[in-house]
Amino acid sequence: MKIAVLPGDGIGKEVTTEAVKVLRAVLGQDAALELIEAPIGAAGIEAAGDPLPPATTEIARAADAILFGAAGVPGDETIPYAMRPGASLLRLRKELGLFANFRPAFLFPELVGASSLKPEIVEGLDLMILRELTGDIYFGEPRGIHTLPSGEREGYNTMRYSESEIERIAHVAFRTARQRRRKVCSVDKANVLETMQLWREVVTRVSREYPDVELTHLFVDAAAMMLMRAPKQFDVMVTGNIFGDILSDAAAMLTGSIGMLPSASLALDQKGLYEPVHGTAPDIAGRNLANPIASILSMGMMLRYSFNQPGNADRVERAVRKVLADGYRTGDIAQPGCKQVGTSEMGDAVAAAIASGA
Ligand code: IPM
Ligand code: MN
Repeated sequence: MKIAVLPGDGIGKEVTTEAVKVLRAVLGQDAALELIEAPIGAAGIEAAGDPLPPATTEIARAADAILFGAAGVPGDETIPYAMRPGASLLRLRKELGLFANFRPAFLFPELVGASSLKPEIVEGLDLMILRELTGDIYFGEPRGIHTLPSGEREGYNTMRYSESEIERIAHVAFRTARQRRRKVCSVDKANVLETMQLWREVVTRVSREYPDVELTHLFVDAAAMMLMRAPKQFDVMVTGNIFGDILSDAAAMLTGSIGMLPSASLALDQKGLYEPVHGTAPDIAGRNLANPIASILSMGMMLRYSFNQPGNADRVERAVRKVLADGYRTGDIAQPGCKQVGTSEMGDAVAAAIASGA
């Protein structure tokens, strides 16, 4: 197993360390495990003068899977795109063709009280947001800031999706639903945007190949409302890059903390990048406060999707459930009477649960 480890910036380093700790606990000492660490983000600039050093891209390309932490610095948006630490991840996704982004929103029963919604709304929640990751307004050209004849500046970006881009993510959505509860909700803004009109048309066309899967459509504003009002109605929610970015943060809150949510980004060749949904959290970075569970669960997804080890992936999830049931909590999910721990103690607890056969 050849894994590229890209911890990146801020809490990315801390949480990735814990995920690797738990990975070693799962695989045991004699596993044929090759971990190759490479810098990205501000760490890339520091090491090689580039947020995405070519050597890092090559290491990622040559690996079977990539474990990513977080990249970015405060004030990121003011730095030109090519040198922007936070954009390094976007470039890597694009270069490796990681178009299918799985963001499960799963509520651990132990955390029902940590959700901002009432228990009866979120209890048993298990939804998969499938976000298209290499197209849309994130990458569409033309883009930029130019000066108008009036002397005033104008910023512009372009929403674009080709039929083939929509088709391939739609197929992933329907295939994923077949492994779950056979329901796909496609989220768009077809009432306003031509790009999304095409989105709806193509998803509907692809759905004819999957008569056993139920397809519904929602406009993104209504979808946001429904996520808050009755989230359990959803099984697989498929959407474009920008809407998926926003909806997955909203869905994260249903589960108590964004610190709990893992993700997997897959390419057509099944190469995968695994990362927590959260960012670098500069306000708590370097203080052993971050919740490493999202990163640990991302590593679990890696075992499932990239290495076809469902048994070991289940062990990781069971171990996380056990430490939650035992009352271990980082600050973001703390509850009265819990055992509040730091990042490394949480990683130790999960690794110990694995060792004790959770
Ligand atoms: C995410 C992040 C990224 C995105 C940022 C850091 C570029 O918010 O993975 O959701 O917008 O895709
Ligand atoms: Mn985001």
